[in-house]
Amino acid sequence: MPDELAINGGPKARDTSVKPWPTISDASGRDFGEEEMELLGQVIRSGSLGYQYGSMVKQFEEEFAARHGSKYACAVSSGTAALHTAMGSLLLEPGDEVITTPVTDMGSIIAIVQCNCVPVFADVDPLTMLIDPDSIRAQITGRTRALMVVHLLGQACNMDEIMAIAAEHNLYVIEDCAQSHDAKWDGRDVGTFGHFGCFSLQQSKQITTGDGGIVVTDEPDLADEAYRFHDKYYDRSGDGRPIDRFGMNYRMSELVGAVALAQLRKLDRIIGRRTQTAEALMAGIDEIPGIVRATVHPKATHTWWRVACTIDEDELGTDAQTFTRAVVAEGLPLRVHTGRGEPICMAPAFQNYAAYGSGNFPWEPPYGRRVEYRLEDYPNTNWAMENVWTASWNEGYTLEDVADILRGLRKVSDHYRAQA
Ligand SMILES: Cc1ncc(COP(=O)(O)O)c(C=O)c1O
Repeated sequence: MPDELAINGGPKARDTSVKPWPTISDASGRDFGEEEMELLGQVIRSGSLGYQYGSMVKQFEEEFAARHGSKYACAVSSGTAALHTAMGSLLLEPGDEVITTPVTDMGSIIAIVQCNCVPVFADVDPLTMLIDPDSIRAQITGRTRALMVVHLLGQACNMDEIMAIAAEHNLYVIEDCAQSHDAKWDGRDVGTFGHFGCFSLQQSKQITTGDGGIVVTDEPDLADEAYRFHDKYYDRSGDGRPIDRFGMNYRMSELVGAVALAQLRKLDRIIGRRTQTAEALMAGIDEIPGIVRATVHPKATHTWWRVACTIDEDELGTDAQTFTRAVVAEGLPLRVHTGRGEPICMAPAFQNYAAYGSGNFPWEPPYGRRVEYRLEDYPNTNWAMENVWTASWNEGYTLEDVADILRGLRKVSDHYRAQA
């Protein structure tokens, strides 16, 4: 007989009060140390904390661009700022439409709406939750000007298909790489296919400064626009151009730049650790009947921001929600669905078209179109929200932690299979 489930009063697979999981919210799951302290010390001793006066942010931009094989990089204060800088640099018109995914962070959408553009949502693949190229095609109208694709959970979107759609319809492409540092499509870094790649350095990301971000592009005109947009449209190039638009202050400080540079130099080590443990977890899951892991496309390299799986309900004789409640009771670090449990466009801000004041700008004529955001238009997203469970991953996980997770999953799987 399998052990009694913890949810039914049995012993937990792991007692987290004795043995907590490593977490991205503190040092247990983050790789900070002497490297960051050394560079921070250099900044403090230099007395130059603003990027215009120091060298740390410039060095971070240079090394980030070089590592990605990009011509230009512009460091900013968050992933949202990176996306807003990219959107702002495209100089789109109010009411222009940008197609994106309903499984993302608000940062992606804020960037669209704060440029007075209208977000339109394509559905996703149910298992990977990556934007579905066929669904993108179905959303294209005469007003569509850009695609904002999100490389979710450490995965890479299908950039062959996305770039083909963009070429066919003459669309800009912004890649939201907030969750997918170092992920690759066909051997090439995400963020380097489209017009802009945007990265976040928020506390949970593969490399972090607490908050921060960076934008990459290969196009000199777009890079010039991005440098000026992120710094109040001041021209720091020395050409003395006048202030000809309204930008933001999204500058990265030298203190943040120091940590960003140290983290970037550790990216291989961090991704290596995440990959070793996440792949061991996935290999173990393959051996447990009834649990199905999200497939990784043969052309993609996953960098494991989160791990994701679902269950075969027929084999286990239960549904994903019940299964996950039992798994969580065992002390395992998993939860059903990512995000907020519904397509992001079901939030009141979208339903009420509430961007500015009491009107519905930019969704209303003469600028935009009142796009309907209806739950039934995103069947795969809805399925994923109910059935896919994920766990935040980090470089603190060990193979011993993986063994504990697998032991707990097998216990729950055995229990339900014995009853099925
Ligand atoms: C997919 C995605 N896009 C955008 C963002 C926004 O990044 P930030 O929190 O650094 O503004 C995040 C992170 O939270 C994200 O996960």
